[in-house]
Amino acid sequence: MKFFIDTANVEEIRKASELGIIDGATTNPSLIAKEGRDLQEVIAEICSIVDGPISAEVMSLDADNMVKEAKVLSKLHENVVIKIPMCEEGLKAVSRLSKEGIRTNVTLIFSAQQALLAAKAGASFVSPFIGRLDDIGNGGMAIIEDIAEIFAIYGIETEIIAASVRTPMHVLECAKAGCDIATIPYKVIMQMVKHPLTDAGIKKFIEDYEKSQK
Ligand code: E4P
Repeated sequence: MKFFIDTANVEEIRKASELGIIDGATTNPSLIAKEGRDLQEVIAEICSIVDGPISAEVMSLDADNMVKEAKVLSKLHENVVIKIPMCEEGLKAVSRLSKEGIRTNVTLIFSAQQALLAAKAGASFVSPFIGRLDDIGNGGMAIIEDIAEIFAIYGIETEIIAASVRTPMHVLECAKAGCDIATIPYKVIMQMVKHPLTDAGIKKFIEDYEKSQK
């Protein structure tokens, strides 16, 4: 399973990358806004840190302008993947971009049917949002399981990115469901590193060793 980091904060990306566990990164307009920086500048910087797919989202809502924005963003670096919102115009843009060899990540997926449509339109990645489904009491994991099962039945090559990941349990469940990728906030990556028994074990080993040296 691949791990992407879900942030536009380059310091977090740098720190997570040093752990040797990051295969790519995803951003969205809210994450970029949080940093108060220019989209293109942030994406170029992320590409200089992470060697893997880096998702940058378009802001237009019509296919013509989505394609125009996508072409500008995709020139920033060969690893840039264009994030397109799931909607009618988005599917048209994905179809056009895939014919030109530009990779897309269809975002804001909340049903397996939407994922299937995005894959058929030519998306390289689909991003089902599990946390936001949990928030409304719909059980986000079920959609990951459904999409993984459907894509396996038909040999669909579009990769599934579990998005809106909020807890280490989400990551564990995605891994068990055979999800290709989880895009994980820095805070959750750090929660995955930690275990109270590991911390207690390290402390005890050091104490025992130091006592023996006195
Ligand atoms: C995914 O690509 C999105 O950037 C992100 O996972 C959304 O997460 P949120 O629901 O916590 O905002």
